[in-house]
Amino acid sequence: MSTKIGRKINEGVSAEIFEWENNEKIIKLAKNKKRHQAMLTEYLNSQVAWDSGVSVPQPFKLVDVDGRPGIVFERIYGETLMERFVNQKGLNYEDIARTTAKILSETHEKTIQNIPSQREPIICSINQADYLTTSEKKLVIDILNSIPIKQQLCHGDPNMNNILIKDNRPLLIDWRHASIGNPEVDLAEYILMIRYAILPMVRHAISPRNITSKTAEYINLIKEEMIKVFIDEYTKLSDITYEDIDSWIIPMAARRLSVGIIPKFEKEQLVAEIRRRLKTYK
Ligand SMILES: Nc1ncnc2c1ncn2[C@@H]1O[C@H](COP(=O)(O)OP(=O)(O)OP(=O)(O)O)[C@@H](O)[C@H]1O
Ligand SMILES: [Mg+2]
Repeated sequence: MSTKIGRKINEGVSAEIFEWENNEKIIKLAKNKKRHQAMLTEYLNSQVAWDSGVSVPQPFKLVDVDGRPGIVFERIYGETLMERFVNQKGLNYEDIARTTAKILSETHEKTIQNIPSQREPIICSINQADYLTTSEKKLVIDILNSIPIKQQLCHGDPNMNNILIKDNRPLLIDWRHASIGNPEVDLAEYILMIRYAILPMVRHAISPRNITSKTAEYINLIKEEMIKVFIDEYTKLSDITYEDIDSWIIPMAARRLSVGIIPKFEKEQLVAEIRRRLKTYK
C-alpha cells in the first residue's frame, strides 16, 4: 500500500475515498482494478468542470495504487446533501431542492467542448432496456429525437450524495457521467430519482439503522412537493419551462430501465409511468 494513503473517509458504489498525503487532499480509489477507463473519463470531466469555473473540488492527478486506478482531489470538509437531509429528518427538503436547482443551473450555463455528447448513449441505453416492447422503444426514441439538441454542460448523476456543502456553498462531485447536451436530462433524472428512488437511497444512507415507517411515510408525503420546489426554482433561474422538462420524463425513465442496480419494483413503476404518458402520444 502507498504510504501517501491515509484513513478511509467514505465510499460510494464504485469507489472508496481515503485521505491522501495531507489534510487537504483525498483519493477516490476504484474498487475494481479494471476501471481505468472510467476513472480517466471522470478525471478529464472533472478537469473540464474545474477549468470552466463550476463549483467542484480541484482535481489534481490520476494515480495507480496497487493496481487500482484513483483520482487525487481537493478534500472538502462538509456534508453531502443526503447527510443534511437525513440528519435533519427531511425537514429542510425545500432548501435541498433549491440548492440542487441552483448548482445545476450554474453548471448548465457552461457551453464547452471536450466532453462526450449526451444523446447517443441515451438512445443506446433505451434500446438495451428490458421491460418495454420494441414498438414502445421506437416511440420513446422518436419522442427523444423530436427534441432539439442543446450544447450545455450536464452532470449526469445529480443525486444527493454527489453534492457536498462547505460553508453553505454547494460543490458537485462524481463527474463520471458528464456530457454536453440538454440540461433537462439532469432535471428529469433528478425528478425520477426523487419520485422513485429516494426511499432506498435514504435507507442506504442511514444503514445499519432501519428507516422507521414514520420517516418513510413522511418522505412519501413530501417527495412530490420537493420536486415542485426544485422545478419552480430551476425555471426561475433559467429560460427552461415546465414543458421542456416534462418532455424528457419518458426518455429518461426508459433510460433508467437499463441501469443494473435499479431494483425490479422501481423499474415496474417506471414502466407504468412511461405507458401512462405514451398513451397521450398515440
Ligand atoms: N473531494 C472530496 N472531499 C471530501 N469527501 C468526498 C470527496 N469526494 C467524495 N467524497 C465523499 O465520498 C462519497 C463518495 O464519493 P463519490 O460519489 O465520488 O464516489 P462513487 O463511488 O463514485 O459514488 P457512487 O455511489 O455515486 O458511484 C461522497 O458522497 C462524499 O461523502
Ligand atoms: Mg457518488
